[in-house]
Order: sequence, then structure tokens, then C-alpha cells
Amino acid sequence: MGSLLAKSVTLRKDVKITDEEFSQLRDFIYAQTGIYIGDNRKYLLENRLANRLRDLNLKTFGEYYYFLRYDPSRKDELNRLFDVITTNETSFFRNPPQLKVFQDIILKEIIAAKISKGDKSLHFWSAGCSTGEEPYTLSIILHEVLKQEIDSWKIKITANDLSASVLKSAKRGIYTPYALRTTPPNIINRYFKEIGNEKYQILPQVAKYVEFVQLNLSDKFQVKRIPKSDVVFCRNVIIYFSEEVKKNVISYFYDNLQPGGYLFLGHSESLHNLSRSFKPIHHPGSIVYKKE
Ligand SMILES: C[S@@+](CC[C@H](N)C(=O)[O-])C[C@H]1O[C@@H](n2cnc3c(N)ncnc32)[C@H](O)[C@@H]1O
Repeated sequence: MGSLLAKSVTLRKDVKITDEEFSQLRDFIYAQTGIYIGDNRKYLLENRLANRLRDLNLKTFGEYYYFLRYDPSRKDELNRLFDVITTNETSFFRNPPQLKVFQDIILKEIIAAKISKGDKSLHFWSAGCSTGEEPYTLSIILHEVLKQEIDSWKIKITANDLSASVLKSAKRGIYTPYALRTTPPNIINRYFKEIGNEKYQILPQVAKYVEFVQLNLSDKFQVKRIPKSDVVFCRNVIIYFSEEVKKNVISYFYDNLQPGGYLFLGHSESLHNLSRSFKPIHHPGSIVYKKE
């Protein structure tokens, strides 16, 4: 009996994805999210989805695909699938040279332009915000630049992600020292509350400007609901998309930005071959893309 059980566990663990099932799932994921899973990630998908098959008591990846397409609870499963296929690596103050350009040059330029027009509103968009470190970093930088003046501004940072579970964690706003590994200690002291057990909670004054929304960047109609932005941060997200989806998403950002607004991409990403609408501006440590 014991060995039979062990055998059935082994069998479950060993469910293999066939080439056909992989293509089917890959096309489905691509159509749903814009994320393209290359052949070299076939086994990663197989491993990452093994638990889902086990939990749902399914015997093949074909059955799983069918479940995703037709089961009454497919919406919940789709959310689980998004959690499984997305890479959510992030941290506070990620890529400090780029954020320095944002803080010292771009933000100051935008603030001066707004003041000259008598408009004291700012809207930033963190597209693909993962567990919240990026939008909270932007809010901290706004506090650093505007200081006590911040209360006289109308500020909103829209933060979105495909994965519902990262957004849940973002809203809690509790982090480990690892998430703060590139954050200056004086910033940690001023904008976080240590809540014991090596955990840090973002202060309400920082969190209040950030609004988290679940959104699929490859869905034009969902993206259209985002208010016009002064700056879009979409760092380390488009690398997962196909060329076609990258081009579309970049054009959605262009349409979303206010004239004179800026797009920031991740340090290994660029608009090369994707868009000629933006003006690339080279700063030490970072290229930023301006909508003129
Ligand atoms: C590697 S994280 C980057 C987080 C943050 N921007 C940074 O640079 O630290 C990429 C995030 O993009 C999200 N993502 C991937 N595809 C998406 C899509 N189609 N729509 C919205 N978010 C997506 C993932 O869920 C993930 O949390």
C-alpha cells in the first residue's frame, strides 16, 4: 500500500509536458498576457505548473489547458497561472543611477514646468509594479524633492501588475531587509517603521499617494483607463514580451503620456527597433525617453 502511494506520487511528479501541449499553453499564455515563453523555458513551465496539476487533480497538461479554457472557475485559475509565469524580482531604489537622473533632472524639470502653468498635479505610472517597491520608491523621491510642499500638490502614482498576489503583498507594504538592500539607511529611518522580526512597513504618508490596480499591459482597452501620466516607469517588464507586444505596449505608453512626459525603461531595455516616436535623451547612467 505504502509503495503504491509512493508510486502514484512519483507518477504525478513526473507528468511531462508534450511539445503539442507546450505550444498550446504557450499560445494561450501569449494571447492572454503578451508574455512569450521561449522553447528554452519549456521545462521551467513544466516545473512551475506541476503543483497546479497536482492541486487540481489533473493528469496531463492538456487537461490543464482545457480547464483554463472552459472550467467555471477558470478566472481564478488564470490568476494563479499569472502568478506562476511572471517574474516578480524587484527592490526599493532599484538602479540608483537612473533614479538619480529622475530625482535631480527629470522631476525638477516637470515640477518647474507645472508651476509655470499654475498646475500643481502630478501623475506617475509604475507599469509592472510587482510587490510595490518601485511605486513606493517614487513616492519617497517625491517627498525628498517637494519636502513640506508636498501637501500642496495633487499627486497620484498608479501602480499596476498582472499578478493579483503581488498586488496583495504591495498593498500590505511590509518588507524584509532584502527588499531594502540598495536603499540608503537614512531613507529607511525616515520612511519605514520597523515592526520587529526584521520587517519594515512603509509609512502611510508614502503609501497614500499610490493606488494599486490589477491590469494587463497588453490589453489596449484596460490601459486606456489609466489617466494621462507625466512619467511612466516600465522597468524590467517588456523583456518578457514578444517584439509585436513590446511595440504595442510602447505605443500605449506614448498615447498615455502628457506632451513633455518621460518614459523610463529597465537598464537592459531600450526602444531600439521598437519606436521612433520618443526622443532618447542620454544622461550619465541612464537613457530617458521623452514625448515631445
Ligand atoms: C521583474 S518585475 C519588475 C518590477 C519593477 N518594475 C522593477 O523594475 O523592479 C516584472 C513585473 O511585470 C509584471 N508583468 C508581466 N507581464 C505583465 C502584463 N502583461 N501586464 C502587467 N504586468 C505584467 C509581472 O507580473 C512582474 O511583477
